[in-house]
Parts: sequence; structure tokens; C-alpha cells
Amino acid sequence: MGKSIKGLVLITGTTSGVGLNTLKPLLRFGWEVIAVNRSNKRAVEIAQKSLTDSEMKNIHFIEIDLSDLDDVRNGCYEILKKFHNPINSIICNAAVYKPRLRKPERSPQGFENSMAVNHFGHFLLINLLLDNILSSEKEIDLNGRAIKFKPRITVLGTVTANYSELGGRIPIPAPADLGNLSGFKNGFLSPISMANGKKFKPGKAYKDSKLCNMVTVQELSKKYPKERIIINSLYPGCVADTKLFRDTPWLFRFLFPIFQKFITKGYVSQRLAGERVAQVATLEEYAKPAVHWSWGNRQKLGRKAFSQKLSKRIIDSNISRQTYELTRKLVGLA
Ligand SMILES: NC(=O)c1ccc[n+]([C@@H]2O[C@H](COP(=O)([O-])OP(=O)(O)OC[C@H]3O[C@@H](n4cnc5c(N)ncnc54)[C@H](OP(=O)(O)O)[C@@H]3O)[C@@H](O)[C@H]2O)c1
Repeated sequence: MGKSIKGLVLITGTTSGVGLNTLKPLLRFGWEVIAVNRSNKRAVEIAQKSLTDSEMKNIHFIEIDLSDLDDVRNGCYEILKKFHNPINSIICNAAVYKPRLRKPERSPQGFENSMAVNHFGHFLLINLLLDNILSSEKEIDLNGRAIKFKPRITVLGTVTANYSELGGRIPIPAPADLGNLSGFKNGFLSPISMANGKKFKPGKAYKDSKLCNMVTVQELSKKYPKERIIINSLYPGCVADTKLFRDTPWLFRFLFPIFQKFITKGYVSQRLAGERVAQVATLEEYAKPAVHWSWGNRQKLGRKAFSQKLSKRIIDSNISRQTYELTRKLVGLA
């Protein structure tokens, strides 16, 4: 057997929260990392604060603003040109959540911005890198050990997008629901701002975008057999103190972590969330297709991850096929 090549993992959004805390475990497991962010300068400065010089040598920084589909195309082109070895594992982590907007922010292509960043940007990135990841080496080197590794895509999902869980039914402002997808069908440009074509609800726009993330996992898993690639999602727990909540009222930011720590017991530290993401994206025990991994909504010490039941709104074949095909059109792949 020839000399194995070091495993290469790509992750989006490493300037804070879960993404930032996923870097250390990935590097500890022996991976070489491509960190995708909208500012390389900021991403490098922030990574340097928590990583050693020798860890920094194993990270490459690529600048992509996921809200801009042209930027995603250029960034993927740069990745394909720059890295001789294919990527083994992709982690779609970056996201925006702006629940207090009165009117939608628009991406450079004119789409509602949280859908553009969280779903469209990642959808295009995955599709542009799919052939590359499918061609990746079957045996990689991790910390000097040769490991058999099947290509993998891991997407950050969330409880609020899953109607099967209590957290997915919270009516503030409404549970995630793509409805008849008329917003997507009608081009998703102004004045349309929601996938279902209805009135703009910023908190729901985020939940819908995460629902689309989870639908993408299900649909991709049908298109690409588990013998070739593993595609799954996870809910790392409620990481109630990340910058994701930066646009919520200060009182919410103050009370939410306390509420999650002491009342619901759903709180997970950023460090533990990062560890969970790194594990799901790289360890053999999580190499099961179309699974939504969760550790539950009440954290218990030593609890093992399990396959969380998903709502019909995510697994319904008709919805997932339509969402996938409409997204292909909207991002310019069809
Ligand atoms: N926090 C939770 O409780 C929780 C629970 C379930 C799931 N999740 C999921 O976990 C993931 C990470 O969330 P987090 O809590 O760690 O949030 P966070 O601290 O706000 O991190 C979000 C990351 O996304 C990046 N990002 C935002 N807009 C971008 C753009 N246009 N292009 C490229 N990158 C962009 C941010 O970069 P900038 O610094 O440039 O803004 C940042 O690095 C998300 O997918 C979220 O939905 C979080």
C-alpha cells in the first residue's frame, strides 16, 4: 500500500462559537483544515488566539462570503485550484440569525439573506465540491496512522427546525415550515422573502433556512449512495452563549443561557459543541447516512449520541425533492 495522504476537512464559519471550537479537536485528530470565512484577516487573528503555532500550520484560510453566490463560485474555484488532494470531509457550519429585522436584508443576488447564507451558499458550495469530495482518497493519514475514510458531509441542523421535537413547535414567531414552496417557485426575489411566499417573519426565516439545510441532507443522501459518501446533520445542543444570538435583545442574551443551564438543562458549552461537530464529521461511529445526530434536549453527563427522529417536513420525499430542485434553479445550477 502506498503512503497515505493527510486527511483534509473543510469547515465554514470559524470566527466564533461552534465553528471556532471545532478547529482544535479536528487538528488534534490529525486533520488538515480549510477554514472558510468572509474575512481571512479576522479568521486568522481569532484562530491564533486559541491555537498554537504548530496547529496554525495545518489550517488554510479561504475567503468566501456565503451570502454571495458569485463569491461561493470564485472561492470553490480557488479551493479546487489550490489543493492538489481532494477534500475528505465538509462541515457546513456558518449561519446568521437576525430575529429582530423589520424588513428582510437582501443578498447580492436579491434573496432574503438568512436563507441565502445558511442554505443557498452552502447548497452551492456542496454541489461545486461534490465531484472533488467523491474522488477523495479511501485511505488517509491521521496522526501517522493510515485510516480508511469514506467521503463525508456534515451539516449543522437545529431543534427549532424539527417539528418532531418540542423545540420545533415553538410558535414564536412560527415553527419552520416551507408550505407549498411558492416563494421559491416564484423566484424568491423582492417582495418575496419567505420560502412559503408568506409575510416576512425573521425568526422563522432562520428556522426555514435550517429546515432547508436538513432537507438537503436527506435529499443528497438519496442521490448519492452510502457506499460512496456519508451525508448527515447534527444538533450539538443549545449553545446559548454564541454570537449567533448577537441580534437578540440584551435581556434575552443575558437570560437565555441561564434558562438553558438551570431550567431546561439543554445548555452545551461551545467547547463541547465543537467536539461533537468534529466527531460527527470524522469518526467512524457516526458514518451512518442521513442520520440527524443529537444528544437530546436535556444534557446528561456521558450521554451517547442517537439518531433523532425527524419531522415529515424534513423527510417527506415530495418536499425534499422539490426543495432540492427549486434550490438548484435559484442558485443557478439548473
Ligand atoms: N448556538 C446554538 O445554540 C446552535 C444550536 C443549534 C445549531 N446551531 C448551528 O450551529 C452553527 C454555528 O452557530 P454558532 O452558534 O456557532 O454561531 P456564531 O458564533 O454566530 O457563528 C457563526 C459563524 O458563521 C459565520 N458567518 C456568518 N455569515 C457568514 C457569511 N455571509 N459568510 C461566511 N460566514 C458567515 C460567522 O462569521 P462572521 O464572524 O464573519 O459573522 C461565524 O463564523 C449554525 O449553523 C447554527 O445554526 C447553533
